[in-house]
Amino acid sequence: VLINAGPTYESIDPVRYIGNHSSGKMGVAIAEAFAQRGSEVHLVLGPDSIIPGDSRIHITRVTTSDEMLAACDAQFKQVDVAVLAAAVTDYKPAIAATEKIKKSSDTLTLNLVRTPDIAATLGKQKKNGQILVGFPLETQNGESNAINKLQEKNMDMIVLNNPHDEGAGFGHDTNKVTFLFPDNKQEKFELKSKKDVAHDIVEAVCKILKADAKN
Ligand code: C5P
Repeated sequence: VLINAGPTYESIDPVRYIGNHSSGKMGVAIAEAFAQRGSEVHLVLGPDSIIPGDSRIHITRVTTSDEMLAACDAQFKQVDVAVLAAAVTDYKPAIAATEKIKKSSDTLTLNLVRTPDIAATLGKQKKNGQILVGFPLETQNGESNAINKLQEKNMDMIVLNNPHDEGAGFGHDTNKVTFLFPDNKQEKFELKSKKDVAHDIVEAVCKILKADAKN
């Protein structure tokens, strides 16, 4: 199982970056839940994330979205399941300054370009039997956006969460999620610990694997 987790940081200059508040807690809980079930787990972990306590998990530390893509790409062919829980920074400076940017003018404009979409890249490479799970974080029109993402990124399951829900999202030990599947089935859950959400995800992935094995 391949899991990515945590934020990515994109350099503006040698001392500053664009990032986000992801703690990596949800992805690390998923890695631990799969490891407890006996899976071989490869975790690609962004900067300043929490680190799993389970020594069976193979960890690759990365900083930028390009590094995260390269690390995930290197593992993807060998895995049955990929759970992409990382909060990949969507835009990065077109050019990172080599020297610290001085505060000379009242305003500063940064020219930003899109980062690689790791989920979409892996979705294009996905082979029969491989399961891809995504983690969109939506603050509005969550379900319709999520259904589009299932198709666009060739995913088998989406774990949708909204950081506006109390106790959900970045940094919390709890989360409130809805699972969405390509056949339009949905499963809504109450607020629960990220550890329990992680076990629900493992259960759902096992069901998909079993159904695939029958067909
Ligand atoms: O498009 P959006 O960011 O909402 O999609 C969320 C899903 O796509 C998550 O699983 C996230 O890890 C993944 N993603 C990615 N690379 C990006 C942006 C998002 O893999 N550049």
